[in-house]
Amino acid sequence: MVSEECRSIIDNMCEYGCNGISRDKLAEFIDYVCYEGSAELREYLRQTANNIATDIFGNKIYIRGLIECTNICRNDCLYCGIRKSNNNVERYRLDKDDILACCKEGYRLGFRTFVLQGGEDPCYTAEFVADVVSNIKKDYPGCAVTLSFGEQEYETYRLWRDAGADRYLLRHETADKQHYARLHPGEMDYDNRVKCLYNLKELGYQVGSGFMVGSPYQTPYNLADDIIFLTKLEPHMIGIGPFVPHSDTPFADKSQGTLTQTLVMISILRVLFKKALIPSTTSLGTIAHDGREQGFLYGANVVMPNLSPVGVRKKYMLYDNKICTGEESAQCISCLEKRVQSVGYRLTVDRGDYME
Ligand code: 5AD
Ligand code: FES
Repeated sequence: MVSEECRSIIDNMCEYGCNGISRDKLAEFIDYVCYEGSAELREYLRQTANNIATDIFGNKIYIRGLIECTNICRNDCLYCGIRKSNNNVERYRLDKDDILACCKEGYRLGFRTFVLQGGEDPCYTAEFVADVVSNIKKDYPGCAVTLSFGEQEYETYRLWRDAGADRYLLRHETADKQHYARLHPGEMDYDNRVKCLYNLKELGYQVGSGFMVGSPYQTPYNLADDIIFLTKLEPHMIGIGPFVPHSDTPFADKSQGTLTQTLVMISILRVLFKKALIPSTTSLGTIAHDGREQGFLYGANVVMPNLSPVGVRKKYMLYDNKICTGEESAQCISCLEKRVQSVGYRLTVDRGDYME
């Protein structure tokens, strides 16, 4: 593939999305743009993505307060630091009052979206989470509640939605069944994950999906399939970040995803999903000191500062060297504010719902 052809692929994607480009071409394109020698082409892609984001969102970056509610998980994803087989994790679970206290602090600091995330903790029952959600919605009627508690039954998702949950994050992780099976234990089923995502859409959630960049065994074909999967799902939010190994997992010795590849994927997603809410993730900030700032320049428009109680942050280690685990929430916001401003953007307290 040559640079000229790549430029016309970028231009075509802008106009027609993925239509007219085959999976193989898409994989070849991703591979070529990520290649070291393609700096000029990457800059063309970045500018294209950045222009789209600016046209739609101006210089706004949306914030969501992330509350890491529980690190207890019944699953055993091979990449994840809080997998159930990791006996070195000190487990914790926030109760209702803890979570409400985080929201109170978050509201005071200006947050209007709370993201409740956690492992698939059997004690976080359908009823418990529904009760927490309805309390948050009662206390902060103008705020959005996003949940991220993995795969659940349709009826559970319905209960949570009825309790007032607005959004749900569930990354598909990889859209290739064989690749999925290499990242997850046998009990976990790709088809169920996909089913969950479609159930969430049916229930009227704003849905976020996504994948890790540079996960073990990933090829450019997998990334092409991830994009094609997302064009079918049409999510409102897309979260991607580099894979970062965790030393107490079977993937301890695997190499981490690269900054370049992650930034390229953010730009491609922005070009294809113009209105999507795309975070510049903590993992991106972990592999490079200015990773999140670069994420904005490549088309990301969301950040998720940590609102978890400081005492639990180091226990929610999905991967090694995770940043923001020692700061107070207020510090995290002012740090981010500076970072966002350093590249010409500003944080906004808008709820930042998906614009249909
Ligand atoms: N490196 C990067 N991202 C990870 N996640 C889990 N483990 C890792 C890791 N080692 C991501 C997964 C999950 C999200 C909450 O965090 O994609 O969906
Ligand atoms: Fe958390 Fe900088 S964003 S400390």
